Amino acid sequence: MFIRKASSDDINEMSLAWADSINSSNLDRIRTTFTVFLKLGECLVVEEGGEVIGTGCYISYSHLSWIGNVGIKKSFQRKGYGRKLMVDLLGLIRTESIRLDATEAGYGLYKRLGFSDGYKTIAFDISDVKGVNDDRVKITNRLEDWMLELDKEAFGDDRSKLLLNIKGKVIYTQGGYGVIYSNILGPLIAENDEVAERLIRSGVRLGVSGVITTEDKEYYIRKLGGKKVGECVRMTKGKEVKENRRLIYGIFRYAFG
Ligand SMILES: CC(C)(COP(=O)(O)OP(=O)(O)OC[C@H]1O[C@@H](n2cnc3c(N)ncnc32)[C@H](O)[C@@H]1OP(=O)(O)O)[C@@H](O)C(=O)NCCC(=O)NCCS
Repeated sequence: MFIRKASSDDINEMSLAWADSINSSNLDRIRTTFTVFLKLGECLVVEEGGEVIGTGCYISYSHLSWIGNVGIKKSFQRKGYGRKLMVDLLGLIRTESIRLDATEAGYGLYKRLGFSDGYKTIAFDISDVKGVNDDRVKITNRLEDWMLELDKEAFGDDRSKLLLNIKGKVIYTQGGYGVIYSNILGPLIAENDEVAERLIRSGVRLGVSGVITTEDKEYYIRKLGGKKVGECVRMTKGKEVKENRRLIYGIFRYAFG
């Protein structure tokens, strides 16, 4: 087994390895995620016998890095490869804080590597929430400066390099914005419940079926009619991140924060 840096030539094999580790068949979406990671961050692959059997990536913002797509093919798990991969990945990262959304499978590994628990991030199916056509909500293709500022306050770092790369629809109203990308609404940043509800109902009307929220907003999303489909634990290693959780109604994706 050896671990090396990945290049765009590896995207296909990495996608197959990651799809195997998480039981997914959505290869197109997976390829897109690796493409973004390789453009804006770095990935490592674990190889055995010439085959890519594991992946792990990170993206660094100003003082915070995000780790994602850490996976080992099922038949190669529990051999210590995941740990070795994480140790190498951590060795590449230079920021004072490192974060990730841990699945149940990864939680113990990250805990032993010095990550501490933050809060739960919960995936909801919101396709049954009543959609509304609200003329206070506007649509655009590009994030404006005030949205990036609001995102920075919420997330605790400047994510412009990621957000300006998402080819989604942006919906906004006074006090909040959301990005619609492959039927998921996120990030969804809003000053209060009323603004968030306006964006969610408009999003559903435009075809949104999912949102990944934080544990603070779990009750709120349930009340609107969301159904929980999964959860992760947001963990941090290093310096605590100064975020404003009150503003976060939806994260972007588990892989990017
Ligand atoms: C999380 C994941 C990457 C861990 O990979 P892995 O290669 O199995 O990790 P390791 O082998 O280093 O450690 C996993 C477990 O195997 C144990 N282990 C390590 N070497 C072992 C060996 N030789 N024999 C038996 N067990 C061993 C470890 O103690 C650890 O135990 P624990 O889970 O009970 O704490 C893998 O489970 C995975 O791909 N899961 C699906 C994708 C996912 O959820 N990724 C996390 C995203 S945040």
